[in-house]
Amino acid sequence: MNNTQTFISENKDRFLNELIELLKIPSVSADPNFAGDVRKTASQVAESLREAGAENVEICETAGYPIVYGDKIISTDLPTVLVYGHYDVQPADPINLWTNPAFEPVIKKTEIHPEGAIFARGACDDKGQMFMHVKAFEAMIKSDELPCNVKFMIEGEEEVGSENLGVFVKENHERLKADVILVSDTGMLANDVPSITTGLRGLSYVEVEVTGPNRDLHSGLYGGCVANPINILAKMIASLHDENNHITIPGFYDRVVDLTDEERAEMAKAPFSKEAYCKALDINDVYGENGYSTMERGSIRPTLDVNGIWGGYTGEGAKTVIASKAYAKISMRLVPDQDPEEITNLFLNHFESIAPEGTKVVVTPHHGGEPAVTPIDSIGYKAASIAYEKTFGKKPIPVRSGGSIPIVSMFEKELGLKTVLMGFGLDSDAIHSPDEHYGLFNYYKGIETIPHFYVAFTELFN
Ligand code: BES
Ligand code: MN
Ligand code: MN
Repeated sequence: MNNTQTFISENKDRFLNELIELLKIPSVSADPNFAGDVRKTASQVAESLREAGAENVEICETAGYPIVYGDKIISTDLPTVLVYGHYDVQPADPINLWTNPAFEPVIKKTEIHPEGAIFARGACDDKGQMFMHVKAFEAMIKSDELPCNVKFMIEGEEEVGSENLGVFVKENHERLKADVILVSDTGMLANDVPSITTGLRGLSYVEVEVTGPNRDLHSGLYGGCVANPINILAKMIASLHDENNHITIPGFYDRVVDLTDEERAEMAKAPFSKEAYCKALDINDVYGENGYSTMERGSIRPTLDVNGIWGGYTGEGAKTVIASKAYAKISMRLVPDQDPEEITNLFLNHFESIAPEGTKVVVTPHHGGEPAVTPIDSIGYKAASIAYEKTFGKKPIPVRSGGSIPIVSMFEKELGLKTVLMGFGLDSDAIHSPDEHYGLFNYYKGIETIPHFYVAFTELFN
């Protein structure tokens, strides 16, 4: 791997400049106004794969945004790594909260990233992390040190639910045949505390609508006499947690796999400073389910959160009105073995059952996803662990993440493959938020670590 690492160190500036170019294209999959830019990004990713040395590069059309495929097959006797990533990004809103425009990348030093970090939407999630794979692959190819076969599958609809990826995977079992899936779309504990993500939460996402009277009413003439949908919605939502912050939906916890005391003790070994955590968020205490640590609440326990709530008058000044309708968007993060469809149904039945007389409730399910876990005794995990140890000089800690990547469980079902989550982002990188950034240390460390994974995986495979 010596030549690969030399190639990386000699091409650092170019690797960074190419990422900056990619970050300039606003590939926001949620907003149709950016459709042209999303497609342009797909072309640019395809071009960078070609330049890196990939073959059979193809922009595969779907019913939505295309999936970029490319591969390098050196021998059918060697194992194959399938790399997944996404080139689409979250909307930049609220844009006025960005210090610099979201699609005009700048490099700035921060307390956590003294070497500098690149600020732009998608810097960490996931263009920066996806591009590390393209550059690591380029370095291995150009140094003639690629030890096994590689396939790339980079999609453009991850942030909107990956609906068409499922179809693509179903129709391309043969083309996607591999021995392991490698993804960098998660995080690690800290730059000096490397960790590998061994679990992801699932997701059930619903929108609720509460209707009271058939029209907006004068709050003096009708106030006190009819159900106010906003009052009712607030009450219904509040009732979804009890005094211990347990979720009250009947059956919600039935399939939750509790960790053993040993597993919890193992988890508690990961460094966590409540003080630093609170300080970073300007809060004076944490909040959550009784009986669990903050680390546990954010990874091995399911949650229910309102993501948005609206209705009635929200303009300047005061308008005395009882709205006809109130709305909320609610997400539930799920853990093994909760099933998103089942949870959505439990929510729906419960929410309808607690609606008082004089109101109507409609629950509309959105996209969901299943939770996933990577066993630490798999050769994929072991290879990743060896790779991190080589570049960080420390053994990485296995950590379950609170985020969701629904396609991971889909890959397992469709392709029979486990995914190794080699994420290099930090929680403080502000993914999905204004001022998203990605440390230069993390970008380069990722590019250096990935080739070691290929070598270790190929060795362990035989
Ligand atoms: N890369 C994230 C997921 C993630 C981030 C997992 C950090 C673990 C650590 C991904 O792009 C994402 O945002 N997923 C969505 C789910 C999706 C269905 C919209 C999420 O977790 O909210
Ligand atoms: Mn992502
Ligand atoms: Mn995301």
